[in-house]
Amino acid sequence: MAESAELILDGKSYSFPVTEGTEHEKAIDIAKLRDQTGYITIDSGYKNTGATKSAITFLDGEEGILRYRGYPIEQLAEQSSFIEVAYLLIYGKLPTQAELDDFSHQITKHTLVHEDVRKIFDGFPSAAHPMAILSSLICSLTAFYPESVSPDLSKEEIDLNVIRLMAKISTIAAWTYKNNMGHPLNYPRNDLDYCANFLYMMFSFPTEKYEIDPRIVSALNKLLILHADHEQNCSTSTVRLVGSANASLYGSVSAGINALWGPLHGGANQEVLEMLQAIQKDGGDTSKFIAKAKDKNDSFRLMGFGHRVYKNFDPRAKIIKKAADEVLSALGINDPLLKIAQELEQAALTDEYFIERKLYPNVDFYSGIIYRAIGIPTEMFTVMFALGRLPGWIAQWKEMRENKEPIGRPRQVYTGELERDYVGIEQRS
Ligand code: MLT
Repeated sequence: MAESAELILDGKSYSFPVTEGTEHEKAIDIAKLRDQTGYITIDSGYKNTGATKSAITFLDGEEGILRYRGYPIEQLAEQSSFIEVAYLLIYGKLPTQAELDDFSHQITKHTLVHEDVRKIFDGFPSAAHPMAILSSLICSLTAFYPESVSPDLSKEEIDLNVIRLMAKISTIAAWTYKNNMGHPLNYPRNDLDYCANFLYMMFSFPTEKYEIDPRIVSALNKLLILHADHEQNCSTSTVRLVGSANASLYGSVSAGINALWGPLHGGANQEVLEMLQAIQKDGGDTSKFIAKAKDKNDSFRLMGFGHRVYKNFDPRAKIIKKAADEVLSALGINDPLLKIAQELEQAALTDEYFIERKLYPNVDFYSGIIYRAIGIPTEMFTVMFALGRLPGWIAQWKEMRENKEPIGRPRQVYTGELERDYVGIEQRS
């Protein structure tokens, strides 16, 4: 017999079906709850709400498991490339060599942006945060490709938007940095692969020869893979919600970029680095800051520790920690911030206070260190996260569209004033 959940309200009993995912996650399907009972559920922050059924990413927070389309993140980080993972997330299968070549070729062909996009840069203050520019310019692609707003796009038209976005985001992202620095903007080089081309656009100057370091390319590939999707996190839910109104892919992803910018979400890796710098400036005594973190009367918060869904460890953090060690030793970097990070990590992993509260270093804790080691400035960290997360956002937007999901329209429990009559301004006190 199919499992169901019984609910008793005002002495009356209701039955709701239980739905089960392929990994045996169970959910009570309350789609008919309001119709049948007049009640709604309230779940602030949606921690107990499955907003959708999705076949893209599986995450088990208790066991520390993360898989894209069934493939363990550990295997993908070790053996795949970012573009291959993007294909996997977006199209649901690992590509054949011919499919991968075609996908890479299409992306490479679209790396140029309209010259008018270049002009938009002039309208921003040069000190603008790169995320402000990134979200605006990604949204502006809707103005350059107005047909992308249509609710009836064919498969080919959706694919074209996917390719354009994958290609142009790296050019725009690199240019946000160049604009910030007052450097000339570099046009993409289509003889390079995705990550190498991004590094070239970020770091080269028209006046000098730029050598691409394969160790840095490989570290970047890994970082982008690790960030590529994370099921229904805040920015992804935003992309799906905005997209559910039939907004364009560019507009939906732009909204996701804004959500990601928040310090509670993607802005966290920037905050980790700033915290490490503050500790260094204070003299580098990590035990002092560990004590501050434990003191409930102290406003200091240890950034980059613990995670909303991982209860024991963040599987991405394990991979990224190893990668950070490898990159730093390969590049011969002796970073005093890394020493501080390692001391904090050790303290947290051995201190009862942190163990009890399951406060272990998460992916943001280490990603900033690698970004710093490969020369990415702090205010670009969240842009790097967005670059990595793009295939996930695209895959989730596409899945939502293909499944013809209805427009997202949550309800509320109203807590305001009861009906009252309008009072003229002269009678108000
Ligand atoms: C993410 O990768 O999106 C973050 O870890 C946040 C989250 O999943 O809630």
